[in-house]
Amino acid sequence: MKDKYRVVVVGMGKRGMHHALAFQANNRFEVVGVCDIDPARLDAAASKFGGVKGKDALQVALSVRPDVFCFCTLPNLRSQMIRIAIESGARLVAFEKPVALNSREAMEVKRLLVASRVKAVVSHQHRYGEHYRKVKEIIVSGALGRVHTVYGTASGWMMHMLSHLIDYMRWYDGDAKAEWVMGQAAGCGKFSDPHPSPDYIGGLIQFANGVRGIVECGAGAPDVPEVDYWWRKCRIGAQGTEGFAEVLTGGGWRAVTKAGSSSGGGCMNYDLDMPPYIEDIAAWLDDDRKVHPCNFESAYAGFEIMMALCRSAAEGGQVALPLRDAADEIGMLAAHLAGHRVLLSTAANASAYPSASPEPELAMSR
Ligand SMILES: NC(=O)c1ccc[n+]([C@@H]2O[C@H](COP(=O)([O-])OP(=O)(O)OC[C@H]3O[C@@H](n4cnc5c(N)ncnc54)[C@H](O)[C@@H]3O)[C@@H](O)[C@H]2O)c1
Repeated sequence: MKDKYRVVVVGMGKRGMHHALAFQANNRFEVVGVCDIDPARLDAAASKFGGVKGKDALQVALSVRPDVFCFCTLPNLRSQMIRIAIESGARLVAFEKPVALNSREAMEVKRLLVASRVKAVVSHQHRYGEHYRKVKEIIVSGALGRVHTVYGTASGWMMHMLSHLIDYMRWYDGDAKAEWVMGQAAGCGKFSDPHPSPDYIGGLIQFANGVRGIVECGAGAPDVPEVDYWWRKCRIGAQGTEGFAEVLTGGGWRAVTKAGSSSGGGCMNYDLDMPPYIEDIAAWLDDDRKVHPCNFESAYAGFEIMMALCRSAAEGGQVALPLRDAADEIGMLAAHLAGHRVLLSTAANASAYPSASPEPELAMSR
């Protein structure tokens, strides 16, 4: 156990800055290197954190040999950064969701991490929100009876939001593994986005403990009218034999159980969610038994569900899990949905999905 773990952060955009600030604010960590290919971002970060700076992640990492290699690049860069982390001798890699952009890349990331035995965490930090934790507490208390269904919806598109939804649905379902999924998708407008996705995807998940997962993400997902801020229009919950409990990312939590109805506040907030996420990294580095709640193995199980939904949407039928063979699911789905325009569920989605069909008939005719 070290007094202070040394951290390199790569990709000093929005999330890289969040991570670096949270590491620096925790007295168990020290940011000793920053990296970005954008000179202005690099300079801004270096003037804030000091230490080694550079635009080449490998050079920065090899020059400081960090305990923690953190990267917050866009999702097109994953296995390349994991290789650099391993080569630098880091004991833990902290990186952003989604795990990758397809199962081929995700399987390579997994292979590298398993072979090197380097610990890894993936930033599904919303779960630290007080409202997210309250729902988990209600489920664990048994107040819902036997949970039979978990569900999640979000207005944002898949590579941004589905990773989060599935992670918290699995958490509410006791981290259950999935046996199979079946999905549908629509709309090709977001395949050219840095978070390439179908405009809308929905599906069913059969969990090994018999619980059913129901998920919808994107342009056609139902509104969350209780929440104003568009990116936080997410609803995640659990239904049991004796009631339900759900969290709204931007609007607190509520539950109905035999004891009556209850509700409370809470809103996704990086400033509140990052400190405990970072603190749990120190705990895992200190003690192998204190596995981080956002560990890679769990994130990978969620990512497989997301990719299996894409395969099902592209090829039809149920897709069994775990995935055995590697594929490029986004490529498969982009080919399947080429020319297809999504239908919106709400007018509020129009600005985020400008390629949506203005009329249902146009969407149907592709
Ligand atoms: N967990 C969350 O709540 C949450 C929220 C937003 C975004 N994200 C995820 O965080 C990741 C980053 O998103 P962002 O919004 O911070 O993006 P961003 O574009 O603001 O930052 C990415 C940075 O990476 C840099 N970069 C790109 N290639 C690089 C390279 N080879 N070496 C060094 N730096 C490089 C870019 O110059 C940029 O500064 C994405 O995967 C996104 O999905 C997660």
